[in-house]
Amino acid sequence: MSRSRLKIKTTHTQSHVHAPVLLDEVIECLAPKKGERYLDLTAGYGGHAGQIIARTDAGSVLVDRDPNAIEYLRTNKETATAGYSDARSVTYMQKSFADAAQELADDGQQFDIILADLGLSSPHIDTAHRGFSFLRDGPLDMRMDTTQELTAEQVVNTYTADQLTDILRRYGEEPKAKRMSQAIIDARPLQSTTELAAVAKRVWPGYSRTHPATRLFQAVRIEVNDELGQVTRMLTLTPQLLRPGGRVGIITFHSLEDRLVKRFFKEMAGNRYDAVLQELTKKPITAREQEHVTNPRARSAKLRVAMRNTT
Ligand SMILES: C[S@@+](CC[C@H](N)C(=O)[O-])C[C@H]1O[C@@H](n2cnc3c(N)ncnc32)[C@H](O)[C@@H]1O
Repeated sequence: MSRSRLKIKTTHTQSHVHAPVLLDEVIECLAPKKGERYLDLTAGYGGHAGQIIARTDAGSVLVDRDPNAIEYLRTNKETATAGYSDARSVTYMQKSFADAAQELADDGQQFDIILADLGLSSPHIDTAHRGFSFLRDGPLDMRMDTTQELTAEQVVNTYTADQLTDILRRYGEEPKAKRMSQAIIDARPLQSTTELAAVAKRVWPGYSRTHPATRLFQAVRIEVNDELGQVTRMLTLTPQLLRPGGRVGIITFHSLEDRLVKRFFKEMAGNRYDAVLQELTKKPITAREQEHVTNPRARSAKLRVAMRNTT
């Protein structure tokens, strides 16, 4: 991809709610055109969707498991879908992207462009009562879909030491997983984000470059939302959901997710005669320094793009 900047303007409202990462790069790589169909699996606050819908016109589907995001998209059509929501027939699905992808595939639907911008939105982090941030005092919730049963409170208060150690190792890559899980058990019952963060501080006293609760919160959040299972299920359905020549872009924010995407694209692409996909990004695209300053979430963002082969 050429690194020439496409000067894309976002409205004040969009950047106020959630600033989309790698927006220029997404538009450049996915190259939306008139007559194409768009599937946004993590529509959030429409930062990417609005720009892609404005360039396509054949019916888009916007998915998000968070009811607040879908509600926002429906009520802010002007900003969230570039004002094209009615004219270009946008469908909204409030469900997990694995379930949405399965439903669309079962229905035989296909798209020219698919985007998944994984992880959390700014309102998740900024809203204390969602319980995602160790810097804000809130309940131990961490559910993206507020209608689901499993919460962070249940994970930290009911999982066994072995279960906690396992998720801390696998999802948090926490070096002191065993000690951390015992400290959680000793501190039960835990009710707030501040109490949980204090456990991590006791396990990691003194100075460290990253907040000691970073890995713990990541592990619990991934468990609550089954984030890696969701990505795996969704990826396997993307070739079926793409029209020949269609492009899929996945933006990840940590190595566990990126590894899944990298491995899947490698398996499906390559020089084999029966390869279904072709990788359009040999190496992941990362944000420029300038975007790191304006949008700190962009620092860890990686974009990988693949195209469905025409034969
Ligand atoms: C990084 S934000 C996307 C922001 C969006 N691209 C924008 O520019 O406004 C990620 C969104 O994906 C949603 N999400 C994360 N995992 C999901 C899943 N498995 N199924 C459906 N939605 C998911 C979150 O609720 C969140 O709104």
